[in-house]
Amino acid sequence: MSYIGAFDSGLGGLSIFRALHQHLPKERFTFLADGKHFPYGEKSKEVLHPIFNNNVDLFQDSKGIVIACNTMSCFLDVEKNHKPPIFSIIDCMVTTVQKYYKDIGALGIMGTDYTVRSETYLNYFKRIGHSYPIYQVAGTKLAPAVENDDENVWEICQSYIDQFPDNMTHLLLGCTHYNLLYEEIQANYPHLTVIDPYREICQRVDSVVQKEDETEGNPLRFLTTKYTSNLQKKSDEILQQSVHWEEINL
Ligand code: DGL
Repeated sequence: MSYIGAFDSGLGGLSIFRALHQHLPKERFTFLADGKHFPYGEKSKEVLHPIFNNNVDLFQDSKGIVIACNTMSCFLDVEKNHKPPIFSIIDCMVTTVQKYYKDIGALGIMGTDYTVRSETYLNYFKRIGHSYPIYQVAGTKLAPAVENDDENVWEICQSYIDQFPDNMTHLLLGCTHYNLLYEEIQANYPHLTVIDPYREICQRVDSVVQKEDETEGNPLRFLTTKYTSNLQKKSDEILQQSVHWEEINL
């Protein structure tokens, strides 16, 4: 029985893992929270690229690798045929917009510094063609605020959303850490449509990986390059179970 691998710098990727596990409850999963290198979003291409390669190598024996991180998805060449198949969250988000949202007046994309600076989203949208304006805002302090359970996380989040022009109709959360605020953002900005971060990645993994008929043994593994009590507390909360983390060196 093979497993599906997924990774991020920390808690954000657990939002994607949670959705995938709910969608494919019979699958084995291994999730890596690469806390030693957090935050990815503030690092350079030269630093991030080898980390991307190491994380992908870790899951070479899996049946599918989910990059549950927008910043790291900037490094994936989606045109290439990867073995095992690799899933980019950016590619899924762009496809989601294209497939399911027809009435966009203006699209806002909020991501990490790296994701915004790299213009990866803009290039994807250019490739598929779009008739609406696209605005980007770097939510520099937001992923760290989510990761570290900052008491001002909501104010920090608002301060970035409020930087978008008034004509924005749709908001794409271009960092998986922001997904953990998805409901709160949608509830507090009812005039905006916040793009669904889970639908396409679940469908894509479902349609590509060969699925298991039954679960055997312990189907879930959680690896981290930096164990902290906050990681334990927040992951237990997000997944509503007591998570057993194994610390590894990468
Ligand atoms: N969750 C990651 C993303 O989607 C990045 C957070 C970080 O490490 O900066 O981009």
